[in-house]
Amino acid sequence: MIQQRLTKAIGLSLMLNAFLAVGQTDLEVDINNKIAEIQPTMYGVFFEDINFAADGGLYAEMIKNRSFEFTVDPFLGWIQPNSDRHSFNNNSGIGSIVKYADNPGNTNFIRVKVNNDQGYQLINEGFRGMGIKEGESYNLYLSAAKHSGNISKINVQFIGENNVVLGETSVDVTSSDWTDYTAQITANKTLAKAKLKFTFEGTGEIDLDMISLFPVDTWKGREKGLRKDLVQLLYDLDPGFLRFPGGCIVEGRTLARRYQWKKTVGPIENREVLVNRWNTEFSHRLTPDYYQSFGLGFFEYFQLSEDLGAEPLPILSCGMACQFNSGELVPMDELDPYIQDAIDLIEFANGSIDTPWGKLRNEMGHSEPFNLKYIGVGNEQWGPDYIDRYKVFGQAIKAKYPDMIIVSGSGPFPDGDYFEYGMEELKKLNAEIIDEHYYRSPEWFRENATRYDSYDRKGPKIFAGEYAAQSVAIASPENKNNWECAFSEAAFITGLERNAEVVNLTSYAPLMAHEEGWQWTPDMIWFNNLQSYGTANYQVQKLFSTNRGTDLISVTSAGKDLTGQNELYASAVTDSGTNEVIVKVVNTSNQSQEVAINLKGKKVYKKGELIVLKSEHLEDENSFENPDKIVPVTAEIQNRGGKLSVELQPYSVSVFKFKIR
Ligand code: AHR
Repeated sequence: MIQQRLTKAIGLSLMLNAFLAVGQTDLEVDINNKIAEIQPTMYGVFFEDINFAADGGLYAEMIKNRSFEFTVDPFLGWIQPNSDRHSFNNNSGIGSIVKYADNPGNTNFIRVKVNNDQGYQLINEGFRGMGIKEGESYNLYLSAAKHSGNISKINVQFIGENNVVLGETSVDVTSSDWTDYTAQITANKTLAKAKLKFTFEGTGEIDLDMISLFPVDTWKGREKGLRKDLVQLLYDLDPGFLRFPGGCIVEGRTLARRYQWKKTVGPIENREVLVNRWNTEFSHRLTPDYYQSFGLGFFEYFQLSEDLGAEPLPILSCGMACQFNSGELVPMDELDPYIQDAIDLIEFANGSIDTPWGKLRNEMGHSEPFNLKYIGVGNEQWGPDYIDRYKVFGQAIKAKYPDMIIVSGSGPFPDGDYFEYGMEELKKLNAEIIDEHYYRSPEWFRENATRYDSYDRKGPKIFAGEYAAQSVAIASPENKNNWECAFSEAAFITGLERNAEVVNLTSYAPLMAHEEGWQWTPDMIWFNNLQSYGTANYQVQKLFSTNRGTDLISVTSAGKDLTGQNELYASAVTDSGTNEVIVKVVNTSNQSQEVAINLKGKKVYKKGELIVLKSEHLEDENSFENPDKIVPVTAEIQNRGGKLSVELQPYSVSVFKFKIR
């Protein structure tokens, strides 16, 4: 075999390493052997408001508890200097909570009472502080009504440690009717943990509500929009779909706390705040100040899907609260409102603007349909109760919208009784797409690269909807986004890709976590109030997603798929858009390995590209201090007559790309 040595390129050391190489592995890539289409949805993202992913994260609101609706304590997040914040209610503390006569979405506002002109202060602490950047401007919004006396002005300041002022603005209050006021404040320093202080000029009583602060510089510059750096990280993944809003958050710990999309659309001041189900889920990571403002609601999720070029994939409650919690069930003969929610959601997304829900979408600024194609029934339910409910949901949705593709679930585990039962029943019902979840060890991921090799090609399609290698145990707070987890996922993904005929959608979970506000780890993207980075797992996802191709082709070693022989894993695709052949090889061993690749079936151009993602140690991670420790490096590579031989580095993911002639 003629072997063309790899061309060495600047910045990429292809000369390796102290370890002894094992024998050469020959790979045959048959460019003409198209096995299946790679669905554009193959690599997507799963979004859930866990770990401060929405409020305190993607949703760029900087004020925590902006409308005084946190049920456990309506003053959570608000500080009254020199006083116990719980004294707000006793009137001597100056501020008190008042209920609107009739406003079901937003029940509370604050009445600030200023007895003298010493400058009463009210401070919002933000979500573990507020991230402000020097020179950047922030839009302040508030609703106010003078109640008595004459409080004429509200001064607003960013403050840092020792109350140092880091930017200021003011609002002149002119009316005793509820009036919306806006102002802009520019930060004179960068700080991750600023606060916002309000002081009042004059004496009397003033009512305040919906006190909001957003960066001017949001994603696409939208007012009251999303955090730009976080959306950019999602955008860079080129996701094929966006699954929302979860996750267990769909189900709720109780039915009353399930996700109800209708309460998340329309004017944000009318969206009913709800305690976040992750608030007290883990006693080792209690987050009592975690609520859902629903400023990021279903309209915004659809809009985000559109921005990302991703298919929207909403998942709805099927009348079952989380079975790990209360497991509350809606009786079968009382399911109608739940089913109606699903039917109405389709109208909200796709209906003409003459329909009631299409009209609301139009009023919210989107006259065109969102072109919803998929809808999920239940998140992670199991057992006969789920199957019974799935059946009636499925029938009702198909009766009205026969083309809607329904996503069902196989429960929380990738094997065992719940899984077996769910899969069997769903197959009998000709389910279209089944969502599988696997939170397992890195070894499991490597060993399961063949998981779908024997799946029925005529059976339901698979949505690998939630997965992540757990370095310690499921949801252990000690879990790390380390390199072993990431490359093990890469090995597994070659198996997903090789089975693209059945596996049509895949997503890592959870997606995002705040450095201080998290409940569950590992997570794909970490952020704090100023910074964000993609983990090694993110880099793996990105590598596969941005090289997904359009058609699966065969790559074999000694006539077999490469699924762990010599600890190597491989998959290959062609891309009809770019006219490329793309071969992915994962070396999970601690040794460099020689691989001889033979690209046959079609001629390819001599020069190509090799992208390598690697790190030396299993426990290596990206971090706030070193976000680019594990990132792909691209080099030029050459073949001769379709043949090349390369040294794969230990613990590496390599992507070979050549243009087809
Ligand atoms: O991703 C975290 C949680 O794991 C999801 O909410 C749930 O679906 C799964 O159990």
